[in-house]
Amino acid sequence: MAKRTSSFACQACGAVYTRWQGRCDACGGWSTIAEESATAPLPGGGSLPRGQRGKGRIFALEGLSGSPEDAPRIASGIAELDRVTGGGFVRGSVILLGGEPGIGKSTLLMQACAAVAGLGHRVVYISGEEAVGQVRLRAERLGLASAAVELAAETNVEDIVATLSQGAPPRLVIIDSIQTMWSEGIESAPGTVTQVRGAAQILIRHAKTSGAAVILVGHVTKDGQIAGPRVVEHMVDAVASFEGDGAHHFRILRAMKNRFGPTDEIGVFEMTGAGLAEVPNPSALFLAGRDSTSPGTAVFAGMEGTRPLLVEFQALVAPTSLGTPRRAVVGWDQNRLSMLIAVLETHAGLKLGAYDVFLNVAGGLRIVEPSADAAAAAALISSLTGAALPADRVYIGEVALTGALRPVSQTSARLKEAAKLGFHSAFLPKAGLDGQGRHDINLEAGGDITDLVAGIAVNTPQKRKAQSADQG
Ligand code: TYD
Ligand code: MG
Repeated sequence: MAKRTSSFACQACGAVYTRWQGRCDACGGWSTIAEESATAPLPGGGSLPRGQRGKGRIFALEGLSGSPEDAPRIASGIAELDRVTGGGFVRGSVILLGGEPGIGKSTLLMQACAAVAGLGHRVVYISGEEAVGQVRLRAERLGLASAAVELAAETNVEDIVATLSQGAPPRLVIIDSIQTMWSEGIESAPGTVTQVRGAAQILIRHAKTSGAAVILVGHVTKDGQIAGPRVVEHMVDAVASFEGDGAHHFRILRAMKNRFGPTDEIGVFEMTGAGLAEVPNPSALFLAGRDSTSPGTAVFAGMEGTRPLLVEFQALVAPTSLGTPRRAVVGWDQNRLSMLIAVLETHAGLKLGAYDVFLNVAGGLRIVEPSADAAAAAALISSLTGAALPADRVYIGEVALTGALRPVSQTSARLKEAAKLGFHSAFLPKAGLDGQGRHDINLEAGGDITDLVAGIAVNTPQKRKAQSADQG
């Protein structure tokens, strides 16, 4: 008879405590710890069935160079999705797809299901949130009502695994969402850490034994973490997040962990009246409707994985009315902005202490590359001085704490993309220029941040006024 145990788990990060406390030591959250009881340490129905208990059974060991199973990946045919998964869903793998409610997770997965089913594979979609009728309605709206996707509204994992084990094993299984799933062996309510972790474990075990690719949908909290257990992130093979900005139509699928592919690739989609459409040329989309004549905007020639991507940095530097000026940033790293401001003040003599600074990456994209420093700095300088930047120029370069501009990788691909989109000049670090081939774009190289400031400050309205006065 298993001993009845009770523990306290943080509902935000999964940390486990022996007694209740108001604040989680692991993640710092308040009132996130709740009591959870478990009858057995093993989720999914107490102890293992008799035949499966470990008793020193000898199993075969295999070499690394065996032949992989036939067709280990199933490409969906949706190029933007396959790019993120690394070429398709791997057999027996589990992907956790996170995203805010309403961002389009169910829509994306329904489209993926229909695509894979269209290739003749067995596909099952389990919805724990919507009734079968609601899922059908969405499929109808997406024009996929005739797809051979098997559908059920179910939340009990034991029942789901038993159903999936009947007949030919499915190649793709969607669980929408993991927070609604519950296992009989666990007493906690659905959505609690123990339940989510236990249910995920059972589904992962099923994926490994049956060879089905399983996608678990996970809800995301306000600060962007997959709600409930971070532990699930460690258990699965891949974690992807579906991001977007409510005000915009485009959505970005980003791989955050992938045991079978790259993690820096993104897929770009656009939400249309008939579901998610692929965006094969995202740069054009992110730059659409750009106001290039106002000061405070600079275009960054970035890379997302193997794909160049042009985005606009917008800055507003305005006199502050507060004792401590505000520094707010959307789509970029707050610490990076603080660093950049410090470098501009120390090495370029800019005085930003009396100004609020706001920085935004247009279109709801999140940029993590350090090579965006030069573009962010250009936008800040432009807003401070009131000098608009040349509309046809892109900026690339990492700024070091010494103020030096450091070279970036894949310059050629970035410049090629900029030239393709009609940009005529590029500001980039001097250091990386050697060995660059010829480009259909004028290169302006800078050694450090003062070169960038000098190039922009030439065009300030005051200077221009002064110049015309000199001439007059
Ligand atoms: P959904 O896939 O239900 O989001 P999630 O599963 O992430 O919660 O998407 C819901 C949103 O998508 C909803 O606000 C309406 C919008 N939508 C469209 O704009 N066009 C469509 O064809 C569909 C199906 C949804
Ligand atoms: Mg949904």
